[in-house]
Amino acid sequence: MSKLSRRKLLAAAAPLAAVPLVGKLAFDGQAEAGGHDHSSHSHPRTPASHVPGAEGHAAMIGAEVPAVGEEHDLDALLYPPPALPYGRGRLRNYELTAVDKDIEIAPGITFPAWTYNGTVPGPVIRATEGDRLRVKLANGGSHPHTIHFHGIHPANMDGVFEVVETGGSFTYEFEARPAGFHLYHCHATPLKKHIHKGLYGAFIIDPKEPRPPAKELVMVMNGYDTDADGGNNFYTVNGRSFFYAKYPIKVRRSQLVRIYLANLTEFDLVNSFHLHGDFFRYQPTGTGDNWEYTDTVMQCQGQRGVIEIQFANTGRFMFHAHQSEFAELGWMGFFEVDE
Ligand code: CU
Ligand code: CU
Repeated sequence: MSKLSRRKLLAAAAPLAAVPLVGKLAFDGQAEAGGHDHSSHSHPRTPASHVPGAEGHAAMIGAEVPAVGEEHDLDALLYPPPALPYGRGRLRNYELTAVDKDIEIAPGITFPAWTYNGTVPGPVIRATEGDRLRVKLANGGSHPHTIHFHGIHPANMDGVFEVVETGGSFTYEFEARPAGFHLYHCHATPLKKHIHKGLYGAFIIDPKEPRPPAKELVMVMNGYDTDADGGNNFYTVNGRSFFYAKYPIKVRRSQLVRIYLANLTEFDLVNSFHLHGDFFRYQPTGTGDNWEYTDTVMQCQGQRGVIEIQFANTGRFMFHAHQSEFAELGWMGFFEVDE
């Protein structure tokens, strides 16, 4: 379906968007009707006062921002487990259980997700290059699933052929390599559905020679098709729209901040990360010596990389998809930089 026809469909379906004030945090401060109307260029916006729950201008940062949950709800997804120094022959064990779960992605908006361990994205898996990685998948969901890891491993550990039926399990085991930032996702068919329903997560392989100490963050960019029309209606990092606008991420000036950034958005070919007020170094796939110095990176579906930044200034700095449509539908947050 072309982008154009998708927009038309969305426009036609807009009245269906009887959603509360979510995803309409337009940068002009005007709340839009319908989280959903991607065609705001040609359709008048409903004044904020007509939107239930909206009084005046929508908040852009802080407690009034329409995001779900408490400040530390997503800590396990934002802060990865610590890197371990290289240790010969070490075994790293993880257990993932596929479960169907309705998750609230924005206030009043529930998505019938398929998850690993109950969250979208799934847990961060981390190993050091050379570790033996053992990941047990138990399928407690209603459909057959697998885990397909990016990286180097034997064909029978690739998560394509050994489909795990409901109630079954399978244990993946392989050496973690190469060092970099990778990802994992279900590879059962239809693939598009199994991914967009939420079965994916971040997979860090630390180099044997450790990276410099840093405040480390994981950001998995995604989208949700809440009306099953083959297009996303909400966008997030780490699963909830506007979460880091409501709860800015606290860092210190000059502190090295490392962000593991991955794109698991379905339907839209490209997503992006743009930072205000500063520049960062970006290493595609978290491998090699190929660092770029920029304030904006784009990633195709399945691409990922490592960002390193030391903020030059204190204050509040926005980060968001440079596709403003995505930003207005939830993919927007702030860093709070203190001295
Ligand atoms: Cu699946
Ligand atoms: Cu993949």
